[in-house]
Amino acid sequence: MDFKIALVPGDGIGPEVIEETIKVLNKIGEKYNHKFQFTTVLAGGAAIDAVGNCLPQDTIDVCKNSDAILLGAVGGWKWDTLPGDKRPERAILGLRKQLGLFANLRPALLFEELAEACPLKSEIIEGGLDIVVVRELTGGIYFGEKGFKDTELGRAAYDVEQYAEEEVRRIAVVAFDMAMKRNKRITSVDKANVLESSRLWRSVVNEVAKDYPDVELNHLYVDNAAMQMVRNPKQFDVIVTSNIFGDILSDEASMITGSIGMLPSASLAKGNFGLYEPVHGSAPDIAGQNQANPMAAILSAAMMLRYSFGLLKEADNIEKAIKSVLSQGYRTADIMSSGYKLIGTKEAGDRIISQL
Ligand code: IPM
Ligand code: MN
Repeated sequence: MDFKIALVPGDGIGPEVIEETIKVLNKIGEKYNHKFQFTTVLAGGAAIDAVGNCLPQDTIDVCKNSDAILLGAVGGWKWDTLPGDKRPERAILGLRKQLGLFANLRPALLFEELAEACPLKSEIIEGGLDIVVVRELTGGIYFGEKGFKDTELGRAAYDVEQYAEEEVRRIAVVAFDMAMKRNKRITSVDKANVLESSRLWRSVVNEVAKDYPDVELNHLYVDNAAMQMVRNPKQFDVIVTSNIFGDILSDEASMITGSIGMLPSASLAKGNFGLYEPVHGSAPDIAGQNQANPMAAILSAAMMLRYSFGLLKEADNIEKAIKSVLSQGYRTADIMSSGYKLIGTKEAGDRIISQL
Protein backbone atom coordinates (compact mmCIF):
# COMPACT_ATOMS: atom_id res chain seq x y z
CA MET A 1 0.00 0.00 0.00
CA ASP A 2 0.95 3.65 -0.47
CA PHE A 3 1.08 6.10 2.42
CA LYS A 4 1.77 9.82 2.45
CA ILE A 5 3.76 10.99 5.44
CA ALA A 6 4.47 14.62 6.29
CA LEU A 7 7.86 14.92 7.98
CA VAL A 8 8.50 17.73 10.43
CA PRO A 9 12.12 17.25 11.55
CA GLY A 10 12.07 20.55 13.48
CA ASP A 11 14.92 21.62 15.74
CA GLY A 12 17.76 20.31 17.89
CA ILE A 13 18.04 16.52 17.71
CA GLY A 14 14.75 16.36 15.74
CA PRO A 15 16.38 16.08 12.27
CA GLU A 16 18.85 13.39 13.44
CA VAL A 17 16.25 11.11 14.96
CA ILE A 18 13.90 11.59 12.01
CA GLU A 19 16.69 10.59 9.62
CA GLU A 20 17.09 7.24 11.37
CA THR A 21 13.32 6.80 11.42
CA ILE A 22 13.12 7.26 7.65
CA LYS A 23 15.78 4.59 7.20
CA VAL A 24 13.73 2.19 9.30
CA LEU A 25 10.48 2.97 7.44
CA ASN A 26 12.16 2.49 4.08
CA LYS A 27 13.40 -0.91 5.19
CA ILE A 28 9.90 -1.84 6.41
CA GLY A 29 8.51 -0.63 3.07
CA GLU A 30 10.92 -2.90 1.18
CA LYS A 31 10.29 -5.88 3.37
CA TYR A 32 6.48 -5.70 3.42
CA ASN A 33 5.95 -4.07 0.07
CA HIS A 34 4.59 -0.66 1.07
CA LYS A 35 5.47 2.70 -0.34
CA PHE A 36 6.03 5.51 2.12
CA GLN A 37 6.08 8.86 0.40
CA PHE A 38 7.72 11.55 2.51
CA THR A 39 7.25 15.31 2.23
CA THR A 40 9.46 17.37 4.51
CA VAL A 41 8.04 20.62 5.89
CA LEU A 42 9.20 23.37 8.21
CA ALA A 43 7.95 24.06 11.72
CA GLY A 44 9.31 25.51 14.94
CA GLY A 45 12.60 27.38 15.17
CA ALA A 46 13.72 26.07 11.77
CA ALA A 47 10.65 27.72 10.23
CA ILE A 48 11.19 30.96 12.18
CA ASP A 49 14.73 31.15 10.80
CA ALA A 50 13.72 30.28 7.23
CA VAL A 51 10.45 32.16 6.77
CA GLY A 52 9.87 34.14 9.97
CA ASN A 53 6.86 32.10 11.09
CA CYS A 54 6.92 28.98 13.29
CA LEU A 55 4.00 27.34 11.48
CA PRO A 56 3.80 28.32 7.79
CA GLN A 57 0.50 27.74 5.98
CA ASP A 58 2.28 25.40 3.55
CA THR A 59 3.19 23.13 6.47
CA ILE A 60 -0.43 22.95 7.59
CA ASP A 61 -1.59 22.22 4.03
CA VAL A 62 0.95 19.43 3.48
CA CYS A 63 0.05 17.91 6.87
CA LYS A 64 -3.67 18.03 6.08
CA ASN A 65 -3.04 16.26 2.78
CA SER A 66 -1.03 13.45 4.34
CA ASP A 67 -2.08 10.18 5.93
CA ALA A 68 0.01 10.93 9.04
CA ILE A 69 2.68 13.27 10.40
CA LEU A 70 6.04 12.36 11.90
CA LEU A 71 7.57 15.11 14.01
CA GLY A 72 11.07 15.26 15.53
CA ALA A 73 11.04 18.08 18.06
CA VAL A 74 10.77 21.84 18.15
CA GLY A 75 12.36 24.57 20.25
CA GLY A 76 15.78 25.54 21.54
CA TRP A 77 17.75 28.20 23.39
CA LYS A 78 18.08 30.33 20.32
CA TRP A 79 14.35 31.18 20.33
CA ASP A 80 13.80 31.17 24.11
CA THR A 81 13.60 34.93 24.42
CA LEU A 82 10.88 35.41 21.79
CA PRO A 83 7.46 36.55 23.07
CA GLY A 84 4.94 33.76 23.89
CA ASP A 85 2.99 33.92 20.65
CA LYS A 86 6.16 33.76 18.51
CA ARG A 87 7.91 30.85 20.21
CA PRO A 88 8.60 27.61 18.29
CA GLU A 89 6.33 25.69 20.70
CA ARG A 90 3.37 27.56 19.19
CA ALA A 91 3.90 25.41 16.09
CA ILE A 92 3.02 22.25 18.01
CA LEU A 93 0.00 23.85 19.61
CA GLY A 94 -1.13 25.18 16.22
CA LEU A 95 -0.77 21.77 14.56
CA ARG A 96 -2.70 20.08 17.37
CA LYS A 97 -5.54 22.59 17.18
CA GLN A 98 -5.76 22.99 13.43
CA LEU A 99 -5.62 19.28 12.74
CA GLY A 100 -8.03 18.36 15.54
CA LEU A 101 -5.50 16.13 17.32
CA PHE A 102 -7.43 15.91 20.58
CA ALA A 103 -6.21 12.55 21.89
CA ASN A 104 -2.62 12.21 23.02
CA LEU A 105 -1.44 8.69 23.83
CA ARG A 106 1.76 8.47 25.83
CA PRO A 107 2.73 4.92 26.67
CA ALA A 108 5.21 4.57 29.50
CA LEU A 109 6.66 1.13 29.17
CA LEU A 110 9.57 -0.17 31.17
CA PHE A 111 11.68 -2.29 28.85
CA GLU A 112 12.89 -5.26 30.87
CA GLU A 113 16.30 -4.79 29.24
CA LEU A 114 16.45 -1.31 30.83
CA ALA A 115 15.14 -2.12 34.30
CA GLU A 116 18.39 -0.83 35.84
CA ALA A 117 17.72 2.63 34.45
CA CYS A 118 14.52 2.93 36.48
CA PRO A 119 15.07 5.20 39.48
CA LEU A 120 12.48 3.37 41.64
CA LYS A 121 13.34 0.49 43.96
CA SER A 122 13.21 -2.86 42.25
CA GLU A 123 10.40 -4.17 44.49
CA ILE A 124 8.18 -1.29 43.35
CA ILE A 125 8.56 -2.13 39.66
CA GLU A 126 8.78 -5.89 39.91
CA GLY A 127 7.07 -7.48 36.92
CA GLY A 128 7.47 -4.34 34.82
CA LEU A 129 5.48 -1.19 34.19
CA ASP A 130 3.04 -0.61 31.38
CA ILE A 131 1.00 2.58 31.63
CA VAL A 132 -0.68 4.68 28.96
CA VAL A 133 -1.41 8.30 29.69
CA VAL A 134 -4.35 9.48 27.57
CA ARG A 135 -4.04 13.23 27.62
CA GLU A 136 -6.67 15.64 26.28
CA LEU A 137 -4.72 17.78 23.82
CA THR A 138 -6.77 20.56 22.26
CA GLY A 139 -8.65 22.05 25.21
CA GLY A 140 -8.25 23.22 28.77
CA ILE A 141 -5.89 25.89 29.99
CA TYR A 142 -3.63 25.62 26.92
CA PHE A 143 -6.36 26.95 24.66
CA GLY A 144 -8.71 28.84 27.01
CA GLU A 145 -9.00 32.59 27.07
CA LYS A 146 -5.74 34.24 28.08
CA GLY A 147 -4.54 37.75 28.56
CA PHE A 148 -3.49 40.53 30.89
CA LYS A 149 -5.49 42.85 33.08
CA ASP A 150 -5.02 45.45 35.77
CA THR A 151 -5.88 44.43 39.30
CA GLU A 152 -5.57 45.92 42.81
CA LEU A 153 -2.19 44.25 42.99
CA GLY A 154 -1.06 45.67 39.67
CA ARG A 155 -0.75 44.00 36.29
CA ALA A 156 -1.92 40.37 36.18
CA ALA A 157 -1.95 37.60 33.60
CA TYR A 158 -4.53 34.83 33.29
CA ASP A 159 -5.17 31.56 31.42
CA VAL A 160 -8.61 30.01 31.67
CA GLU A 161 -9.16 26.28 32.23
CA GLN A 162 -12.40 25.43 30.46
CA TYR A 163 -13.81 22.11 29.23
CA ALA A 164 -16.97 21.46 27.26
CA GLU A 165 -18.76 18.19 28.04
CA GLU A 166 -18.17 16.98 24.49
CA GLU A 167 -14.42 17.53 24.79
CA VAL A 168 -14.36 15.38 27.91
CA ARG A 169 -16.64 12.75 26.42
CA ARG A 170 -14.56 12.16 23.31
CA ILE A 171 -11.27 11.79 25.20
CA ALA A 172 -12.96 9.53 27.75
CA VAL A 173 -14.22 7.30 24.93
CA VAL A 174 -10.67 7.01 23.53
CA ALA A 175 -9.41 6.06 26.99
CA PHE A 176 -12.12 3.48 27.67
CA ASP A 177 -11.62 1.91 24.23
CA MET A 178 -7.92 1.70 25.01
CA ALA A 179 -8.59 0.13 28.41
CA MET A 180 -10.78 -2.52 26.76
CA LYS A 181 -7.77 -3.59 24.69
CA ARG A 182 -5.53 -3.66 27.74
CA ASN A 183 -6.12 -4.53 31.38
CA LYS A 184 -9.53 -2.85 31.66
CA ARG A 185 -8.56 -0.36 34.33
CA ILE A 186 -8.87 3.43 34.06
CA THR A 187 -7.78 6.14 36.43
CA SER A 188 -9.31 9.52 35.66
CA VAL A 189 -7.20 12.31 37.12
CA ASP A 190 -8.65 15.70 38.04
CA LYS A 191 -8.79 18.29 40.81
CA ALA A 192 -12.51 17.97 41.53
CA ASN A 193 -12.06 19.01 45.16
CA VAL A 194 -11.24 22.52 43.93
CA LEU A 195 -12.02 23.09 40.25
CA GLU A 196 -15.46 23.39 38.66
CA SER A 197 -14.03 22.20 35.34
CA SER A 198 -12.79 19.05 37.08
CA ARG A 199 -16.22 18.36 38.60
CA LEU A 200 -17.69 18.51 35.11
CA TRP A 201 -14.85 16.29 33.86
CA ARG A 202 -15.58 13.71 36.54
CA SER A 203 -19.32 13.60 35.90
CA VAL A 204 -18.85 13.14 32.14
CA VAL A 205 -16.27 10.38 32.69
CA ASN A 206 -18.78 8.64 35.00
CA GLU A 207 -21.43 8.85 32.30
CA VAL A 208 -19.14 7.38 29.64
CA ALA A 209 -18.18 4.60 32.07
CA LYS A 210 -21.77 3.29 31.96
CA ASP A 211 -21.11 2.12 28.39
CA TYR A 212 -18.09 0.10 29.58
CA PRO A 213 -19.32 -2.13 32.41
CA ASP A 214 -16.19 -4.32 32.13
CA VAL A 215 -13.80 -1.47 32.82
CA GLU A 216 -12.91 -0.63 36.39
CA LEU A 217 -12.89 3.16 36.83
CA ASN A 218 -11.12 5.03 39.57
CA HIS A 219 -10.85 8.78 40.17
CA LEU A 220 -7.77 10.41 41.69
CA TYR A 221 -6.94 14.00 42.45
CA VAL A 222 -3.87 15.07 40.51
CA ASP A 223 -1.68 15.66 43.57
CA ASN A 224 -2.44 12.17 44.83
CA ALA A 225 -1.91 10.71 41.34
CA ALA A 226 1.56 12.29 41.13
CA MET A 227 2.42 10.71 44.46
CA GLN A 228 0.92 7.28 43.60
CA MET A 229 2.95 7.24 40.40
CA VAL A 230 6.17 6.86 42.36
CA ARG A 231 4.69 5.03 45.37
CA ASN A 232 2.86 2.29 43.48
CA PRO A 233 2.91 2.78 39.69
CA LYS A 234 1.73 -0.76 39.02
CA GLN A 235 -1.80 0.24 40.05
CA PHE A 236 -2.09 2.19 36.76
CA ASP A 237 -3.17 0.82 33.41
CA VAL A 238 -4.81 3.70 31.49
CA ILE A 239 -4.74 7.22 32.92
CA VAL A 240 -7.10 9.76 31.36
CA THR A 241 -6.66 13.40 32.17
CA SER A 242 -6.75 17.03 31.04
CA ASN A 243 -4.22 18.79 28.87
CA ILE A 244 -2.17 20.38 31.66
CA PHE A 245 -2.33 17.47 34.12
CA GLY A 246 -1.45 15.09 31.30
CA ASP A 247 1.54 17.21 30.35
CA ILE A 248 2.91 16.91 33.87
CA LEU A 249 1.98 13.31 34.65
CA SER A 250 3.29 12.00 31.34
CA ASP A 251 6.73 13.45 32.08
CA GLU A 252 6.62 11.80 35.49
CA ALA A 253 5.50 8.50 33.96
CA SER A 254 8.31 8.68 31.43
CA MET A 255 10.90 9.27 34.13
CA ILE A 256 9.97 6.15 36.08
CA THR A 257 10.62 4.06 32.99
CA GLY A 258 14.24 5.14 33.05
CA SER A 259 14.66 7.06 29.86
CA ILE A 260 12.60 9.69 28.19
CA GLY A 261 14.78 8.84 25.16
CA MET A 262 12.74 5.67 24.69
CA LEU A 263 9.20 7.00 24.74
CA PRO A 264 6.98 7.57 21.72
CA SER A 265 3.65 9.36 21.49
CA ALA A 266 0.64 9.61 19.22
CA SER A 267 -1.71 12.55 18.87
CA LEU A 268 -4.88 11.41 17.20
CA ALA A 269 -7.81 13.09 15.51
CA LYS A 270 -11.18 11.45 14.89
CA GLY A 271 -10.61 8.64 12.39
CA ASN A 272 -7.12 7.37 11.60
CA PHE A 273 -5.20 10.60 11.21
CA GLY A 274 -2.44 11.29 13.69
CA LEU A 275 0.78 13.07 14.50
CA TYR A 276 3.57 10.94 15.93
CA GLU A 277 6.52 12.27 17.88
CA PRO A 278 9.06 11.25 20.48
CA VAL A 279 8.32 12.61 23.96
CA HIS A 280 11.90 13.81 24.54
CA GLY A 281 11.95 17.21 22.86
CA SER A 282 14.77 18.98 21.04
CA ALA A 283 17.67 18.49 23.52
CA PRO A 284 19.77 21.37 22.10
CA ASP A 285 22.72 20.44 24.36
CA ILE A 286 23.44 17.29 22.35
CA ALA A 287 22.10 18.36 18.94
CA GLY A 288 24.26 17.53 15.92
CA GLN A 289 26.62 15.30 17.89
CA ASN A 290 25.32 11.88 16.87
CA GLN A 291 24.44 11.22 20.52
CA ALA A 292 20.66 11.31 20.52
CA ASN A 293 18.67 8.14 21.03
CA PRO A 294 16.52 7.63 17.91
CA MET A 295 14.46 4.85 19.51
CA ALA A 296 11.61 7.09 20.72
CA ALA A 297 11.19 8.50 17.21
CA ILE A 298 11.37 5.03 15.68
CA LEU A 299 8.85 3.71 18.21
CA SER A 300 6.64 6.68 17.30
CA ALA A 301 6.79 5.51 13.69
CA ALA A 302 5.73 2.06 14.91
CA MET A 303 2.72 3.69 16.60
CA MET A 304 1.96 5.42 13.29
CA LEU A 305 1.98 2.10 11.44
CA ARG A 306 -0.32 0.61 14.07
CA TYR A 307 -2.83 3.42 14.66
CA SER A 308 -2.97 5.35 11.38
CA PHE A 309 -2.11 2.66 8.83
CA GLY A 310 -3.34 -0.52 10.50
CA LEU A 311 0.03 -2.24 9.84
CA LEU A 312 0.21 -4.30 12.99
CA LYS A 313 2.86 -6.86 12.13
CA GLU A 314 5.12 -4.16 10.72
CA ALA A 315 4.78 -2.21 13.98
CA ASP A 316 5.53 -5.34 16.01
CA ASN A 317 8.57 -5.98 13.85
CA ILE A 318 10.04 -2.55 14.68
CA GLU A 319 9.40 -2.96 18.40
CA LYS A 320 11.02 -6.39 18.42
CA ALA A 321 14.03 -5.10 16.49
CA ILE A 322 14.59 -2.40 19.12
CA LYS A 323 14.32 -4.92 21.91
CA SER A 324 16.87 -7.16 20.29
CA VAL A 325 19.35 -4.31 19.85
CA LEU A 326 18.94 -3.59 23.56
CA SER A 327 19.29 -7.22 24.54
CA GLN A 328 22.53 -7.41 22.52
CA GLY A 329 23.85 -4.81 24.94
CA TYR A 330 23.92 -1.71 22.74
CA ARG A 331 23.04 1.58 24.44
CA THR A 332 22.91 5.22 23.39
CA ALA A 333 24.34 7.67 25.94
CA ASP A 334 21.01 8.41 27.66
CA ILE A 335 20.52 4.76 28.67
CA MET A 336 24.17 3.80 29.01
CA SER A 337 25.48 2.05 32.10
CA SER A 338 28.72 0.24 32.75
CA GLY A 339 29.25 -3.05 30.99
CA TYR A 340 27.24 -2.06 27.91
CA LYS A 341 28.37 -0.96 24.44
CA LEU A 342 27.96 2.74 23.71
CA ILE A 343 26.57 3.60 20.29
CA GLY A 344 25.61 6.83 18.52
CA THR A 345 22.43 7.86 16.76
CA LYS A 346 23.37 6.49 13.34
CA GLU A 347 24.69 3.20 14.63
CA ALA A 348 21.51 2.74 16.66
CA GLY A 349 19.48 3.24 13.48
CA ASP A 350 21.68 0.83 11.52
CA ARG A 351 21.53 -1.83 14.22
CA ILE A 352 17.74 -1.62 14.38
CA ILE A 353 17.52 -1.97 10.61
CA SER A 354 19.76 -5.00 10.67
CA GLN A 355 17.29 -6.69 13.05
CA LEU A 356 14.23 -6.06 10.88
C1 IPM B 1 4.65 18.29 25.34
C2 IPM B 1 5.37 19.59 25.41
C3 IPM B 1 4.44 20.65 24.84
C4 IPM B 1 3.22 20.71 25.75
C5 IPM B 1 5.05 22.02 24.64
C6 IPM B 1 6.32 21.98 23.84
C7 IPM B 1 4.07 22.98 24.03
O1 IPM B 1 5.77 19.87 26.69
O2 IPM B 1 4.28 17.86 24.23
O3 IPM B 1 4.45 17.66 26.39
O4 IPM B 1 3.25 21.37 26.78
O5 IPM B 1 2.22 20.09 25.39
MN1 MN C 1 5.40 18.24 28.12
